[in-house]
Amino acid sequence: MTDAIRTVLPYAPDIHTPLPGPKAQANLARDATLISPSYTRPYPFVMSHGQGCLVWDVDGNRFLDFTAGVAVCATGHSHPRVVEAIQRQAEQFIHMAGTDFYYELQVKLAEKLAQITPGDFPKRVFFTNSGAESVEAALKLARYHTGRSRLMSFIGSFHGRTMGALALTGSKAIHRRGFEPLMPGVTHTPYAYCYRCPINLSYPSCKLACVDYIEDTLFKRLVPADEVAAIFVEPIQGEGGYVVPPDGWHQELRALCSKHGILLVADEIQSGIGRTGKWCAIEHWGVTPDIVCYAKGIASGLPLGAIVARADIMDWDSGAHANTFGGNPLACAAALATFEVIETEGLLDNAARMGEYFKAALRDMQSHHPCIGDVRGLGLMVAAELIDPDTGDPDPTLRDDLVQNCFERGLLVLGCGFNSVRFMPALTIDLPTAEAGLAVFEAALSDAELAATLRPPKSQGV
Ligand SMILES: Cc1ncc(COP(=O)(O)O)c(C=O)c1O
Repeated sequence: MTDAIRTVLPYAPDIHTPLPGPKAQANLARDATLISPSYTRPYPFVMSHGQGCLVWDVDGNRFLDFTAGVAVCATGHSHPRVVEAIQRQAEQFIHMAGTDFYYELQVKLAEKLAQITPGDFPKRVFFTNSGAESVEAALKLARYHTGRSRLMSFIGSFHGRTMGALALTGSKAIHRRGFEPLMPGVTHTPYAYCYRCPINLSYPSCKLACVDYIEDTLFKRLVPADEVAAIFVEPIQGEGGYVVPPDGWHQELRALCSKHGILLVADEIQSGIGRTGKWCAIEHWGVTPDIVCYAKGIASGLPLGAIVARADIMDWDSGAHANTFGGNPLACAAALATFEVIETEGLLDNAARMGEYFKAALRDMQSHHPCIGDVRGLGLMVAAELIDPDTGDPDPTLRDDLVQNCFERGLLVLGCGFNSVRFMPALTIDLPTAEAGLAVFEAALSDAELAATLRPPKSQGV
């Protein structure tokens, strides 16, 4: 244990069995024969319970959780206010299908979502159960409203795994392999990933050439603009590597959409509901989308999603789109409690402040760990990109080793992109917890760097 970790002991992980421990191993053995092998679990963490940013495995080991269940447990694990809201609602009624009946919780939540979503105009809300379902709803609405069939999204984007959402996703080939043909009519275009510019230019001298490419090349040669219903964009690419576009990029995209009557759909599924220090990440650029997709953090862990659209856009007829569980009362109660906690505990400010702390600490680490090529993010959506310091090339092996080492030392982190680690703790995280986790991270990084020096040299080929 390093001195830095020892000084923050009350917040530090407590690992007292080999990992995975005996109870975890027993669960893993049963899981291995029954559960779909398509999941992507990077290490064998078997959860017993959680509280805030702390989680315990079934063998009683205590971990720091910098994943928040993949950016879902916005208010931390089992926030008492959220638990109470779910319990209270469960005693009233658990389900009544908002598709066919009415209940006030949906209206209350819709009012809140309309209030926090950018745009000073009347809005309407459609409830879903997940991110992919929100994206499906948005793409169906965009086609329905515009009468246009084509859609656009970005290379590196992640919008979900159902067939329509997957057609928009452009993150990793493994997501698509074996599933073609997907929904036709989607064109992907380069995102503003300035650290590794896909068209080899530099900001700002590039003058946002990747947006001009849509107008000057795609619209002229491949994709008639007047056939495009919507452009889907993550304000910050999540799964793709926590990529933050430069100033002006989202504004240019908005202008392009407005010019051609194309709807701008912001996928705020990972970046929304306060994660970046604002309700919606797109607010950092002062841009108003036509449709916003939510899920993940909206209900602190209960399955819920929503799309919020300009009221004049959500003009589909009764029966055009619906689902049985979307806007389930337990999930709505949890979402209303989530909003209350975020507001009363000042979690937007906390996310902004702690995000700056994470970035500063990682940049400080970068000065003596040259394998950290880039540190980026907004609020509590922060990533470190791992590289080979000699060549600047991405080093996915180092990243994977680092994520494993963190687990073994009691810190849960996940990767994003091909070679980045993301930090997406609960919005409630405090300074001692962040310090403790980052001290573990740095120790794990040193181990991974050492292992990298012992790797056999890359084959030069023949
Ligand atoms: C930006 C974004 N959109 C959509 C999705 C899909 O959400 P879900 O896994 O709930 O279907 C995700 C999930 O990671 C996401 O990050």
